[in-house]
Amino acid sequence: MSGRGRHVVLRMGQNMPLLGLGCSQMGGEKLSAAVTAALDAGYRLIDTAYAYENEGVVGEALHRWLGRTGTPREVVFVVTKLPTIGMHAGGPEKFLKKSLDQLRLDYVDLYLVHTPFGLKAKSDTDVFPRDDKGYPCLDDATDIISVWKEMEKVAKAGLAKNIGVSNFNIKQMRKVIANATFLPAVLQVELSVYIQQPQVQEYCRRQNIVITAYAPFGSPDRFNTGCRSGSSPCDGDGGCGWVLEDPVVRLVAENHSVTPAQVLLRFLVQQNIATIPKSANPTRIAQNFDIWGFKLTETEMEALKTRDKGEAGRRFGSNYFPLFKWVSDHPEYPL
Ligand SMILES: NC(=O)c1ccc[n+]([C@@H]2O[C@H](COP(=O)([O-])OP(=O)(O)OC[C@H]3O[C@@H](n4cnc5c(N)ncnc54)[C@H](OP(=O)(O)O)[C@@H]3O)[C@@H](O)[C@H]2O)c1
Repeated sequence: MSGRGRHVVLRMGQNMPLLGLGCSQMGGEKLSAAVTAALDAGYRLIDTAYAYENEGVVGEALHRWLGRTGTPREVVFVVTKLPTIGMHAGGPEKFLKKSLDQLRLDYVDLYLVHTPFGLKAKSDTDVFPRDDKGYPCLDDATDIISVWKEMEKVAKAGLAKNIGVSNFNIKQMRKVIANATFLPAVLQVELSVYIQQPQVQEYCRRQNIVITAYAPFGSPDRFNTGCRSGSSPCDGDGGCGWVLEDPVVRLVAENHSVTPAQVLLRFLVQQNIATIPKSANPTRIAQNFDIWGFKLTETEMEALKTRDKGEAGRRFGSNYFPLFKWVSDHPEYPL
């Protein structure tokens, strides 16, 4: 894999921006303003998903911005994902067409299988189906090889320029790759200074798969129960275990007169790992993008690498994240 400054080159030759806006847990005016602020600030990658139930807002804001600025559509790299309820025969094409309809696009730049496990839904709008007792409707018949074959078909049909996976472990990626005609271009997983996943990084490097790191700040708004102050995002009281509060991260930030968030993002892109921080705050959105004017030294990179907490740094696992807790009995549960 090679990089071209602010981009990384995917296996099919397309440039993917290393920094994009994450759009989960936002909707309506807030999301519309965030997408507009991001595009104005220079972001050229937007990450959404069918399961976020906000593709219509993303599409509307994107088209308004393209029209206002006279920018061609191909300048913006749009990512969306096959929902967990689409992990069956016919799912990829059906759900990608629905996403394209919402986004008002002819193609997406990257379509990801959101999770390796599947859920059975009675309707396409029920993105997290549960039974009468409140348990998730696990689809034990999920077959990631046949889902991948259908992902290849949507790529061949031109509906997605690139295809990839999210939340897959190495074993699951091996299984897909051993049976694939088109190899995954991207793996999107939780990755930050506190959960660096060196083995996954090494595997992806060898397979020429680009990693996109989600939750680069540890997703403080989702998991604020671990924060002593209980504030969202962290208010800087220290000692509450958040990566934005890490003393080494803060020291490196002081060295460069930047924010801890900028250090966390720079740490990733400097290793050719793409990342998609979420913010609904236009000032932070602009600040998070302003990471191209400084470079972390080798010593700083090494110091930040020592902050890896391994599995203890994971937020999107069965300890904290309800979806992963509830589906841990699924045969393709990845963790
Ligand atoms: N594939 C998957 O399964 C998966 C899972 C999770 C996430 N994702 C993707 O990854 C994106 C990012 O992950 P995430 O939203 O969970 O977590 P995140 O980006 O690590 O954290 C977002 C939180 O950080 C705060 N924040 C943003 N900039 C900040 C700054 N400069 N200083 C202090 N706080 C700041 C935000 O608050 P404000 O909004 O108030 O700024 C928000 O509370 C998602 O939006 C989604 O697109 C994918």
